[in-house]
Amino acid sequence: MIPFMDLMRQHEAIKGELLVALEGVLQSSRFVLGPEGQALEAEVAARCGARHGIGVGSGTDALRLALTALGVGPGDEVITPAFSFVASASTIVMVGATPVFVDVDPATLALDPAGVERALTPRTRAVVAVHLYGHPAPIDRVVGLARARGVAVVEDAAQAIGATWDGRPLGGWGDVACLSFYPTKNLGACGDAGMLVTSRDEVAEHVRRLRHHGDSGRYHHVELGYCSRLDEVQAAMLRVKLRHLDAWTDARRRLAARYRERLAGLPLTLPAEHPRARHVYHLFTVRHPQRDAFAKALADLGVGTAVHYPLPVPGQPLFGDKDERRYPEAWRASREVLSLPCFPELTDAEADDVAAAVRAALERV
Ligand SMILES: Cc1ncc(COP(=O)(O)O)c(C=O)c1O
Repeated sequence: MIPFMDLMRQHEAIKGELLVALEGVLQSSRFVLGPEGQALEAEVAARCGARHGIGVGSGTDALRLALTALGVGPGDEVITPAFSFVASASTIVMVGATPVFVDVDPATLALDPAGVERALTPRTRAVVAVHLYGHPAPIDRVVGLARARGVAVVEDAAQAIGATWDGRPLGGWGDVACLSFYPTKNLGACGDAGMLVTSRDEVAEHVRRLRHHGDSGRYHHVELGYCSRLDEVQAAMLRVKLRHLDAWTDARRRLAARYRERLAGLPLTLPAEHPRARHVYHLFTVRHPQRDAFAKALADLGVGTAVHYPLPVPGQPLFGDKDERRYPEAWRASREVLSLPCFPELTDAEADDVAAAVRAALERV
């Protein structure tokens, strides 16, 4: 059996380093807003080419606090892709604004700039550009369109730490970028955690207040805030893992190249990698019109897979829009996508077995 993902392999390999870091935090007994968090913020911000990093409780909170700090609220519209993880849109609802969905580019499944242009109205306050699966959205075009209209850009880089567009890291293009350190992400904590990065000083300062009860100094609460800080234990774990991130990303990219070589010419759509993009393969997601039968055949052959995502965001019961004509590419993607095992510890031999199983499975569907 080849698992879709096996985090135990990662933790087995670096357990000694993690335990030393954990011991350091216990020794200091500083658990919230301390030196590990500060150091992690500086390290991640530098990687993203941004001036500030602000650690928060999750990627979802990063999005929610980013929107609040950018002044998004009731009466505002926020453009977001119709195909993503639900948080790229639910956080817009959390701040009282209205998500305006746009369909995605069928090649990269990123939001389509032409759709963004059509969706802009005088009420548009922000655009959420999602770098889905670790592949960049065409962020220069999105930023260009938004800036021309005085609209803010939030990069949802939850899946894309380390990816670049035109050689420049994601996270430094928009007004704010949001990262998730959910355990299965390319840089994953041992629990929930997230971070915002931004080069806008006033946004950084506002988010620092928002994550800490709206506190402007010791117990001076100037606005409604939240309790959403990235704690010291998670920061220490993440700093250990950050030392390995480049090697892990290289391993993901090598696996992707191996899959491409071995799956070439099969009746299967492989993930695109735009010439201007450096994809970090958070997911290696292929497409097949008989996805469910294909997934079942792979499962029968002992290969674990996953569907990211089985419904487009507006089609989720939360939003309840079942009209497929409105976002045809998002609906088509939701029926066709299938993610193959692609994690740094997967061996070349296992990848070759996956590729052989894909060949065999395709003959059965
Ligand atoms: C694209 C995208 N946005 C936002 C999130 C939310 O991050 P978290 O799970 O850390 O709240 C995720 C992670 O699941 C994601 O994949």
